[in-house]
Amino acid sequence: MISQRSIQQVIAAATVEDVVSYYVELRKRGANLLGLCPFHDEKTPSFTVSPAKNIYKCFGCGKGGDPIRFIMEHDQLTYPEAIRFLADRYGIELEETQRSDNYVEEKQERESLQVINDYARDYFVKQLWDSENGKAIGLSYFKERGFREVTIKRFDLGYAHKKPDDFTQEAVGKQYNIELLRTLGLTSKKDLDFFRDRVMFTIHSASGKPIAFAGRTLITGNKKIPKYINSPETPIYNKSNVLYALHLAKGEISKQNNCFLVEGYTDVISLHQGGIENVVASSGTSLTDGQVKAVKRYADTITLLYDGDAAGIKAAMRGLDVILKQGMNVFLVTLPESHDPDSYLQKVGKTNFEQYIADTRVDFIEYMARSVAKDYKNDPIGKAKAMKDVVSTLSLIGDSLKRTFYVQLCAEILDIKEVIIQREVSKTLKKKINQEKSRKKFRQNTGDQGPTPPPPSEESQWITEQSIPLDMPRESVGDIYKEKDLARICIAAGDQVITIDEGEETTIAAYVYSSIFDVIDYFDEPAYRDLIIEIFQKVESGEFDQDSYIRHDNERIRNLTIDAISSPYQYSKWPTPMHSQKVPNENFERDAANSIIRFKYEKIKKVIGKLKERITQLAESKEEESLNIALLALNKLNEEKKALAIKLGTTYG
Ligand code: CTP
Ligand code: MN
Repeated sequence: MISQRSIQQVIAAATVEDVVSYYVELRKRGANLLGLCPFHDEKTPSFTVSPAKNIYKCFGCGKGGDPIRFIMEHDQLTYPEAIRFLADRYGIELEETQRSDNYVEEKQERESLQVINDYARDYFVKQLWDSENGKAIGLSYFKERGFREVTIKRFDLGYAHKKPDDFTQEAVGKQYNIELLRTLGLTSKKDLDFFRDRVMFTIHSASGKPIAFAGRTLITGNKKIPKYINSPETPIYNKSNVLYALHLAKGEISKQNNCFLVEGYTDVISLHQGGIENVVASSGTSLTDGQVKAVKRYADTITLLYDGDAAGIKAAMRGLDVILKQGMNVFLVTLPESHDPDSYLQKVGKTNFEQYIADTRVDFIEYMARSVAKDYKNDPIGKAKAMKDVVSTLSLIGDSLKRTFYVQLCAEILDIKEVIIQREVSKTLKKKINQEKSRKKFRQNTGDQGPTPPPPSEESQWITEQSIPLDMPRESVGDIYKEKDLARICIAAGDQVITIDEGEETTIAAYVYSSIFDVIDYFDEPAYRDLIIEIFQKVESGEFDQDSYIRHDNERIRNLTIDAISSPYQYSKWPTPMHSQKVPNENFERDAANSIIRFKYEKIKKVIGKLKERITQLAESKEEESLNIALLALNKLNEEKKALAIKLGTTYG
């Protein structure tokens, strides 16, 4: 690990204007510098660099951060990679902190394994281009498939000849350790070559190192010979975290904010060759959490590009839940019968292929709802089962706004009342939370630490009992801007001390937190709520550090911080005359107060709306007792709303 001291040295040396100006031509504009954004296409500059705050921010695409973040985004590097890169540029010698012997040993083993895989890659590639059989069998096969020479080289395609142990012999002759050759699966227990008589696909890490291989046989029709054989899992190859060709695709995935996922190696290669480069493959296995996380670093949408046959759709369905669970958007494109992406692209050409994608791309949740609806038309029992499937998928969507949207959509498609689906989804969420709770309890009782607990879950908003005594859905829509403002105030001035009633002193964070506590479960955007809570806790314990939010791992929090400190006076438009004045820093106090009142006002208004619907239902179904409670609650809420409106100095709403 790089020592903290070295990291600080790099941070001190790499000023934002210096780092950015390697890539972007900057012009002076007041206290800031301005240029064309390298993260999206633009003709008029909206990419702003603030030397004083040592941050950059694009007002076009919203990307922003500190110099390290810039390098990470621009060159698709991890944090330590970016530090190393900048250290190199500024001639800073990095100090590595001591690790246990074990770590050093493991690291050495991984490095040795990597060296051998590099060698194996070179060997297979050389066989393809230089050996007689390699050229006659392997190379001509790839060329017949339509792969051009540059493509074959770009993907490190290779050839493994028939001879029993030539590769192993040569490797051992070059002093490579036979044990490690076995670990890598290149050499069998009997010291024979594992890959023989196959064309070879090199599998790379996200940074482009050869970490595994797949060999495809050219023999057809012999069921005993598997079409592909693959390297085993090794200390440098964790199958479930690796996607084929991610090292070549990541830049374009990030640019398009979309990743096409296909099933086969050859599909990836064809599409890249055809100019569609945001494509990776899960390589035969069903999609895993780790693979989806790997994509999530670069984009928040995945488009599955699968064969149109039943097997293809089934494989896609399995992927859907995994992707949704990671909070990503999913689209689906199915190809015409008997085609895979490779064959279809080669048949129709790039323009038609892209047109086909544009024309047939569907939102996967919508697609799924439609297909189950079709299956169970006029079959009430089937319909109940269909709903169960849909509900289980919907309850994987973490974002409550998005979930509400899909609940509405699926209700329409399945022709089932929205409230019914909503209720089922709530139940499922509730069940999950209870399971999680009992797991936690179990861990506490047994002292089992388990995995680190997730931050307070957004789903809790569905079940937390509130002062409002109602069993109604707790979701609401559209208050995100107000929530964002509160979070922003906390970031900008959470530790600022203010005086409240009767001369009592408190911090802005504590003030915001305590004021919204009674409606804290009604946040539309849990990230903002969690952030406010976190800042409050940090301020309380004296650990609040605004800078750490500039470097936060979560992109939204990072951007929010950049917003908060680069334009503290830019508040979203509130529909009230009170927000006419740009307030100076000292007025965060008044600002926070106003934001809180508006926030609560909007929340209560929404709750009242829901309550009225509920009252109508209760009246229809003649549930006297519940109806009376609901009416009492309505009175109470109306009073609260009136009080808030008076404070706002307005009668709006
Ligand atoms: N696969 C595998 N082992 C097999 C068959 C398939 O690992 N025995 C994986 C490979 O990653 C393969 C993907 O599943 O790329 C898709 O399989 P398939 O469509 O059969 O292979 P293609 O790569 O499309 O090969 P080709 O076009 O040459 O038939
Ligand atoms: Mn194929």
